[in-house]
Amino acid sequence: LGRVGLVGAGGIAGGVTGALVEHATGPDGPGSLERQRARAVAAVRPAGPHQPGIAGPPAAHLVFTAYDLTGDAAVTPAQTRTALRDLLTAWTRTAATVMAGEQPADGGQRTLGLAPSALTVTFGLGASALTRAGLTNRIPPQLAPIPAFPHDQLDPARRDGDLAVQICAEDPMVAASAARTLDVLARRYASPRWRQHGFRQSAAASAEPTGTPRNLMGQFDGTNNPAADTAVFDLAVWADTTAPAWMTGGSYLVARRIRMLLDRWDLLTVDAQEKVIGRRKSDGAPLSGGGEHTDPDFLARTADDSPVIPANSHVRLSHPQFNNGVRMLRRGYSYQDGLDADGDPDAGLFFLAYQADPRTAFTAVQRKLDRLDALSAFVRHTGSALFAVPPAAPAGGHVGQQLLE
Ligand code: HEM
Repeated sequence: LGRVGLVGAGGIAGGVTGALVEHATGPDGPGSLERQRARAVAAVRPAGPHQPGIAGPPAAHLVFTAYDLTGDAAVTPAQTRTALRDLLTAWTRTAATVMAGEQPADGGQRTLGLAPSALTVTFGLGASALTRAGLTNRIPPQLAPIPAFPHDQLDPARRDGDLAVQICAEDPMVAASAARTLDVLARRYASPRWRQHGFRQSAAASAEPTGTPRNLMGQFDGTNNPAADTAVFDLAVWADTTAPAWMTGGSYLVARRIRMLLDRWDLLTVDAQEKVIGRRKSDGAPLSGGGEHTDPDFLARTADDSPVIPANSHVRLSHPQFNNGVRMLRRGYSYQDGLDADGDPDAGLFFLAYQADPRTAFTAVQRKLDRLDALSAFVRHTGSALFAVPPAAPAGGHVGQQLLE
């Protein structure tokens, strides 16, 4: 193989981008294993007002954990505030250490010799944590509970939580070790309530360096996401001026565990599957034509005068054009949790969406999807949670400091 723009650990400030190995050449063309290797060794060095793990490219592996405050940490509001301060201080410090690829101070030596693998750690707070801490008057209106939707089949064991930790890494061992390290630090204050592992198509499986990944139904998923570092992204994702000051630079995260009824889905012809989504499976182009990133033409009609992009298709119902221009950043992961009691795959999408206001973004869109989306017959929402994701920690401080000081 030819020359590769390999960047070692610590060589990148502010994030990891596909631009890393643009110079890769050789019989396999650009990308492939060299690119994966470059991301594997790279450390994400967060900078700026936002936590890592939101705007940057999602790494291939996810460990997502919701925690509940327990024991002494939940006895009185004052104790809860102290516990939150202590825990978030320890978590913030250790997250920075492990993201840099260094060993945490707990002596576990779990990742000795492993590269940082583009590890990111992102912290969130549930409304219940603020209530327990006696901070009810500081709960952002954007954290209003997600309403029940008629087709929800939520498992109480996969809902809500006082705290959330999203861990992403290009290597599953690095992600699991970081999760273990944060669990150990949490012991005195909080215990895991639920945990979801997830995965995305890794660079090893992609011909295109920054191509859209496929989900377990086989579709390109993420095509019309807002692009990072644009005004559209900033408006869609970061808390706006209607949020409390402690959330400036933060975002709101909706997590939904959405099981795919894959056996039922696979009975459809590709043509029928494409009509459910409104995009072609092969290249992600809208059914009205063009390429993956061509705008859908929702006015296009077929020869028999029906809409080319069906009225009940997923993209028509969720497109900003029909949702007051509202967008969200979908940053979900596929999951595969073995088989259920009937031997059917318990697999699907762990949907993660960052947005400025879930009331006008996720909730408004899901209200429509639940009722009208052709995709609803092939999915089942089994878990749900909503978290405020505060801005990055102030220098030398901890995530959530603006709330707790
Ligand atoms: C677009 C799949 C659930 C909101 C898409 C696309 C696919 C897809 C294939 C088209 C490509 C793209 O732009 O990414 C799925 C699957 C789901 C699911 C398989 C469940 C398992 C949801 C949910 C919401 C949502 C729960 C929000 C309530 C959106 C939005 C778009 C989109 C906003 C972009 C529409 C546009 O701007 O064109 N989804 N989706 N999706 N989906 Fe979903």
